[in-house]
Amino acid sequence: MTSRRQFIKKGLLSGFSTLSLTNLSKSAHFDELRDATSDEELFALIRNQLHIPKERLYLNTGSLGPSPMVVTDAVHAMMQQLEKNPAIENWGDLGTKMEKVRTKVGELINTDPEDVILTRNTTEGLSLISQSLKLNKGDEILTTTHEHGGGEVGLEYMAATQGAVIKKLQIPVPATSKEAVIEAVVNNITPKTKVVMLSHVNTLTGLRMPFDEISKITKPKGILLIADGAQAAGLISVDVKSMGVDAYAASGHKWMLGPKETGFVYWSKELQQKINPVFTSSGFGSYSASSGTRNVAVISGLGVAIDWLNLIGKEKIESRCLEIRSYCLSRLKELKGIVIISPQVDSLSTGIVSFTLKEGENRVIAGELAKEDIIVKVLPKYNGIRISCHMFVSKLDIDRFIKSFSQLV
Ligand SMILES: Cc1ncc(COP(=O)(O)O)c(C=O)c1O
Repeated sequence: MTSRRQFIKKGLLSGFSTLSLTNLSKSAHFDELRDATSDEELFALIRNQLHIPKERLYLNTGSLGPSPMVVTDAVHAMMQQLEKNPAIENWGDLGTKMEKVRTKVGELINTDPEDVILTRNTTEGLSLISQSLKLNKGDEILTTTHEHGGGEVGLEYMAATQGAVIKKLQIPVPATSKEAVIEAVVNNITPKTKVVMLSHVNTLTGLRMPFDEISKITKPKGILLIADGAQAAGLISVDVKSMGVDAYAASGHKWMLGPKETGFVYWSKELQQKINPVFTSSGFGSYSASSGTRNVAVISGLGVAIDWLNLIGKEKIESRCLEIRSYCLSRLKELKGIVIISPQVDSLSTGIVSFTLKEGENRVIAGELAKEDIIVKVLPKYNGIRISCHMFVSKLDIDRFIKSFSQLV
């Protein structure tokens, strides 16, 4: 193992061409993770494969995730390959590579590649879904007061263009049981409800929405169930079949650690029969192929990110994120000046912990933390702060954050 690492270092210094360097570092980085003898070693190696400087504590994957070196190296190499013979590469070797990413996404979320299109981000995916649906005047769209603007814009478009009405329910803060969350949804469904749109993992609190149970209520009523998966893909397992959703949109550049401006959207086969095609030709084919010229390097980079995540393993990533979040939660509970707004029961929890400040301003505190190279996300709605515990964050990192933060509240 050590000699392989030395070999990587030597290779990096001795000036291989970019492409061979990428192939070398890709397999070397993958091998390095494969060779880890314990989870602690594995997660330390993962941290080392990021571009984030050693002294920076990055707790904001929920906004944008840091791509590992294998991903950025691959994107650079593919960009150079493309420019050597653009038309041939774009519809040849690189184009073929790009098309395979739909298959990888399909495997990741348990569906066929034909049900997936590759987008630029969640907002685009949710907007495409909204534009494709046919509603009547007065039909109700049920959502929550905790959705991200990226999901809301599509709903607002449906309301404005088709005369639909948006209803927003309040989710308990913090949510204390699955039953309470499901009840909040069920109590707001009326005979006019035609669409329910919810975040799979909530952007403010990290709440994991119990879609499996909710779809059992919406499906028999013929209500379309749409999931905003921006904060879920890469953090928790996504199985669109067991969730029972009709459509699902997510970003590649958050918890999946993919290149920026990547994402995907899923429509169930049933829904594909009923939607208005948004693009110019008719039928779902107009969505599903990566038709038109795309950024092959960036999209293929998402495929590399998926390979890298698969090597580590979905279950391992999810349980590591939960472990770090639990530790963060327990340390935060020692502090007096805050109120936790994230759920504390395991069944509703993910790798996100958020809290509000009893005194002081979140922006000022986040600014002070940034001076110490600790990066967090402010939640303006709650005078709150969100901590994203991705797998590369350690318990020692959390201790560092708590030490600095406790001096500010
Ligand atoms: C729940 C949710 N939906 C949508 C978005 C928008 O994501 P993107 O900018 O990738 O479209 C975000 C971004 O933070 C989010 O948290």
